Amino acid sequence: MANNKDVAIVILAAGKGTRLKSSLAKVLHTAGGRPLVEHVARASLGLGAKKIIAVLGHQAEKVAEIVEPLGAESVLQQPQNGTGHAMLVAKRAIGNAKFVVVLPGDAPLVKTETLKALIQKHKQGQAAATILTAVLADPSGYGRILRKGEDAVLAIVEESQLTAEQRELNEINSSIYCFATAKLWPALGQVKPNNKHREIYLTDAVGVMNAKGETVLAEIAADSREMLGCNTRADLAEVDHTFRERKREQLMADGVSIQLPETVLIDPEVTVGEDTVIEPCVQLLGKTKIGARCVVKTGSVVHNCVLGDTVTVEPHCVMTESKLETDVVVGPFARLRVGTLLKSGARLGNFVETKQSVVGEGTKAMHLTYLGDAKIGSKTNIGAGTIICNYDGFQKNPTTIGNRAFIGSDAALVAPVRIGDGAYVAAGSTITDNVPEDALGIARGRQVNKPGWAGKKRRELAARQRAPKKKKPIRR
Ligand code: UD1
Ligand code: MG
Repeated sequence: MANNKDVAIVILAAGKGTRLKSSLAKVLHTAGGRPLVEHVARASLGLGAKKIIAVLGHQAEKVAEIVEPLGAESVLQQPQNGTGHAMLVAKRAIGNAKFVVVLPGDAPLVKTETLKALIQKHKQGQAAATILTAVLADPSGYGRILRKGEDAVLAIVEESQLTAEQRELNEINSSIYCFATAKLWPALGQVKPNNKHREIYLTDAVGVMNAKGETVLAEIAADSREMLGCNTRADLAEVDHTFRERKREQLMADGVSIQLPETVLIDPEVTVGEDTVIEPCVQLLGKTKIGARCVVKTGSVVHNCVLGDTVTVEPHCVMTESKLETDVVVGPFARLRVGTLLKSGARLGNFVETKQSVVGEGTKAMHLTYLGDAKIGSKTNIGAGTIICNYDGFQKNPTTIGNRAFIGSDAALVAPVRIGDGAYVAAGSTITDNVPEDALGIARGRQVNKPGWAGKKRRELAARQRAPKKKKPIRR
């Protein structure tokens, strides 16, 4: 880890984010599967800084719940009088750190390496401030960099204060800076809220430093996308797109095949083993772990699941908090709810739903079935349309089915109930009592055949159709 024990990091995360038109504070919005502020905090973790300070305001408690577990210390900015004011609020927490790196909580794509390079440039250049900038084809919405010569900066001009000529400038302020604290505080002390929002802009400190003859440098980011800030919903979508692309590229580099990658959405903590194939329009979410040589077919959504090696997920499965051991096959159109464990070689077919259930090794439930609160042994066959009636209106009740059992189609197993090893349940049975080992459980009305009944019925109906219709009386 880099040695930056003379650096404090400040994450600016107090603003509301008016342009998002949302009841949720801006930095709590998600992109790439995480709240914006979490990305920023994580990027700063690898810098080896003295401390990380988060300036909070809107929905401070919720933001604190995200940044504090990552080691950040919170300070409260109330009311939010601008980015410069936010720094003044953090002054005491920054303490005697020689340098301070400022990160806006709404620019989540920045990488640790980029920040390391910024700090290095700042230290080497012995500058009062070093600004990370980007050259954008469309710079609208950002503050613009006014340069004086090759390396040095004259000022930052906010969008609302640009002259017609300055509007053409396409080098923007990312709001990521490194400051020498000894130079920052006196400059910030001179900044006045000279703008229509009556806010103290951190950007104005740069102009003040320049006027005092201090060195202000700018470093153009190699990848301008890293500097994208999220002020609007469209910005959020663009940033999300970039995060998703990064994740897919990383997995492909690690030996995963992804078909039509731009249609596949994968959360940051998901892991996938070598030679696994992900088909189009798949979503892998949360902390999902997928083994090697699996296939996850089109349209499937996998959330917080663990899949062993060589698992096949047929198209359009929805799975949550479930574990699938090696060689399991599920779907198409299977729904695995929380607490499902499919042991090695188990198979679930179309329109099968499971919840809090264990399906043993090599056991099959191929069609139209509900398995809830059930423990099923190995090599058992669950026939089409089997329903486990686990809920009695008050509580959920358990069902146990042994090894090598055979549940006939359309059986209803009314829990709590046990089906022994090797037992049969006759098709169409409603089972309310335990079925012992190797027994047949049958619970249905006996069949009665009425010879000739259907032919007689047809003849009657045909005769009725041939009979002349009575005329309706005319009503007067
Ligand atoms: C800011 C910069 C602009 C830059 C852009 C880059 C200023 C005045 N402008 O504009 O030059 O191009 O970022 O994305 O700094 N915040 C607080 N307290 C406040 C105000 C803001 O913590 O009182 C936080 C916000 O929550 C946000 C960050 O600071 O995370 C930036 O604020 P925002 O309102 O998004 O500034 P921009 O208009 O984007
Ligand atoms: Mg912004």
